[in-house]
Amino acid sequence: MSISPARKVIFDTDPGVDDAMALYYALAHTGIEMVGITTTFGNVSVHQAATNALYLTAIANRNIPVTQGVKTPWFKPGEAPPDFIHGADGLGNLPSRHATTNQIDPRSSAQFIVDMARAHPGEITLVAVGPLGNLAAALMLEPELPRLVQEVIIMGGTILEPGNVSPVAEANIWNDPHAADKVFTAGWKLTMVGLDVTHQVIVSVALIQKIADQHHHPATDTLVHAVKFYADFYSGIYPHVAKIYGCFGHDVLAFIYLTNPGLFSVQSGRIRVATEGIAQGQTMMNRRESVTYPQIGWGDTPDTLVCMQVQSDAVLHVFESTLMGPWLEKE
Ligand code: BDR
Ligand code: CA
Repeated sequence: MSISPARKVIFDTDPGVDDAMALYYALAHTGIEMVGITTTFGNVSVHQAATNALYLTAIANRNIPVTQGVKTPWFKPGEAPPDFIHGADGLGNLPSRHATTNQIDPRSSAQFIVDMARAHPGEITLVAVGPLGNLAAALMLEPELPRLVQEVIIMGGTILEPGNVSPVAEANIWNDPHAADKVFTAGWKLTMVGLDVTHQVIVSVALIQKIADQHHHPATDTLVHAVKFYADFYSGIYPHVAKIYGCFGHDVLAFIYLTNPGLFSVQSGRIRVATEGIAQGQTMMNRRESVTYPQIGWGDTPDTLVCMQVQSDAVLHVFESTLMGPWLEKE
């Protein structure tokens, strides 16, 4: 299925293995025009994230602007990147890299987002799959941003599913809860693709291998290496994932929501983020819209659309058929 005309997307990301899967899904999809990649700290340092974004696009024969963004959370101290999940290099510790020449765009990620939104009012979709500091910084640079972008889709947070870095917090929100709260209260068209749905979709190593066997290309070979490392982590902690030898598709689902929203069941409600204390990073949703709670901070919060259920087999089919298509030039 294609979106017509192709949607202009800025991909805000911290690649990261599932970020790499998401990037390649988006590049393979004819309904998406990726107009820039803005990077952030998260799975790796922001420098490594930008290096990876440049590398992944270069080996896929694309030259898309890549910027470097925030290095640390807005207020809380930064933490060591999770090298046990994504590898020290974010791509499963690649044994070597091909020589590439793509260069970084010198603007900050926030400035790039603002420049693009002003240049294409109402046309840019932000798909953000890392900690949300770049979006928060862009909102501070341009308070009109919510009216300049078409929509925002984030991978992050959780409502009913347990957290993945604390009993209640998902990693991207945990990594910068103050930025996330600013994003949830900004007043743009916002959709949250969180663990409620990403934990329902397991991408197998066998599927990524099948895609690589189809293309015989450095880009998909790189993906196989990275996904194996990532799958070892997830298979090590979740027996049902080990059975398939795979991993959660997290960031991919943000793009599949963009291309195939009908595969998701959504609920609308106000979301705030706990910024301090034991619940830090929790995405709290008012699921009783008819009730007016008295606490400060709920009354004027705009609604977020939250993905609660997903048709996982259909998602995997869309992912596979898109990536099996002719999106890579023959080497
Ligand atoms: C999210 O955290 C990161 O590790 C992944 O790339 C994804 O964006 C999942 O909680
Ligand atoms: Ca990510």
